[in-house]
Amino acid sequence: MERLQKVLARAGVASRRKAEGLILEGKVKVNGSVVTELGTKVSASDRVEVEGIQVVKETFVYYLLYKPRGYISTVHDEKGRKTVLDLLPGVEQRIFPVGRLDYDTSGVIIMTNDGDFSYTMTHPKFGIRKQYIAKVKGVPTREALKKLENGIVLEDGLTAPANVKMRSMDKKAQTALIEITISEGKNRQVRRMFDAIGCPVVKLRRESFANLTTIGLNAGEARELTTHEVKQLRVLAETGKIG
Ligand code: URA
Repeated sequence: MERLQKVLARAGVASRRKAEGLILEGKVKVNGSVVTELGTKVSASDRVEVEGIQVVKETFVYYLLYKPRGYISTVHDEKGRKTVLDLLPGVEQRIFPVGRLDYDTSGVIIMTNDGDFSYTMTHPKFGIRKQYIAKVKGVPTREALKKLENGIVLEDGLTAPANVKMRSMDKKAQTALIEITISEGKNRQVRRMFDAIGCPVVKLRRESFANLTTIGLNAGEARELTTHEVKQLRVLAETGKIG
């Protein structure tokens, strides 16, 4: 964290003295709000503007987190539950999760401070595929699995075509492990799809997000995505192919 006038001076906006003047005159905004306090400190994650022009760009960061069950995918929880941010304590940037996983869902989730990237990864028109493994109650019939593949009418509309495969079943326990790949992200989509065929999900894990998996990470651990991985994801969204 550094004093705003120092950051402005270093960015070549004005001398430190003149920068103080600009701040006092109300010409400087930090993250969209005018700041007139000379002691204000900013970090690499803050967006600083002088007279409407951005002078210091935030550095974008991208993490792959293996979310465990029992964490909420928001940056703050009114009920005081643990959030995914608690798992990345040393990150200075204001990161947020790309899309959502339910409190009880585990698996791959990307965290970033890059809003455009997040939009591209989550909007269904870009078709980024996410694969889940669902343990469900009951053993779905072939016809039921076909329904999931072709589209199910949920209260917020028809689901897009999905890939669905039975991994294993336990006839005695009346449970099954199903692999399902979708390219949308309706709220609680997988759970609601299985509810619709009468086989509620008892355990859910996101195995992959595009070509990214949790391999090499334990639950609760994160790693930075490489520049190449970030580029690959952008190319995938643009062309439908991994570059
Ligand atoms: N679908 C769900 O139902 N839950 C998740 O966490 C992700 C997809």
